[in-house]
Amino acid sequence: LHKEIEELKSLIRDVPDFPKPGIVFKDITPLLHKPWAFQKVIDYIGNRYVGLGIDIVAGIESRGFLLAAALAYKIGAGLAIIRKPGKLPYKTISATYTLEYGEDKIEVHEDAIQEGMKVVLIDDVLATGGTMNAAIDLVERLGGNIISVDFLLELTFLGGRERIQKRGYPVFSLIKF
Ligand code: PRP
Ligand code: MG
Repeated sequence: LHKEIEELKSLIRDVPDFPKPGIVFKDITPLLHKPWAFQKVIDYIGNRYVGLGIDIVAGIESRGFLLAAALAYKIGAGLAIIRKPGKLPYKTISATYTLEYGEDKIEVHEDAIQEGMKVVLIDDVLATGGTMNAAIDLVERLGGNIISVDFLLELTFLGGRERIQKRGYPVFSLIKF
């Protein structure tokens, strides 16, 4: 298992100076390009939820959608999409956050999650945790019961995990840097 995770980790590409000078971007596309690798990622994450009765997987635009949709399908849950501003057609609630590089806002439909539903939140990368913290705000405001907060990869030196755990939620990441 450890060897397989290392293999997946080797498929993450470092791109220096993207999107800004000084930032080393973790590019997950080489992993997505490999059929077995993408399948393994979703299986590893999804197998943790067998029999737990998860109602909703909530994914964050845009790279989080790639994982959220596959995970929701795998575990037979509904899919809630947390989107960048102005994209959702119906009534929304929103939360703002500071990103590793810039500031942004995310929104979700007010009927995406009902009070008491078991929710798994997922995104591709945990960096500062700013994005996920805002997503947690949204799910909390809709009354969702957050079972786990999951990521494909975590940049441990940025302290995002602590920010999320402080709020009382378990954090899971498949690959750590
Ligand atoms: C990236 C990444 C996470 C977030 C992590 O998304 O996909 O969502 O940043 O950073 P944080 O933990 O410091 O908040 P980005 O906003 O670049 O947009 P994208 O997913 O649309 O590419
Ligand atoms: Mg993102």
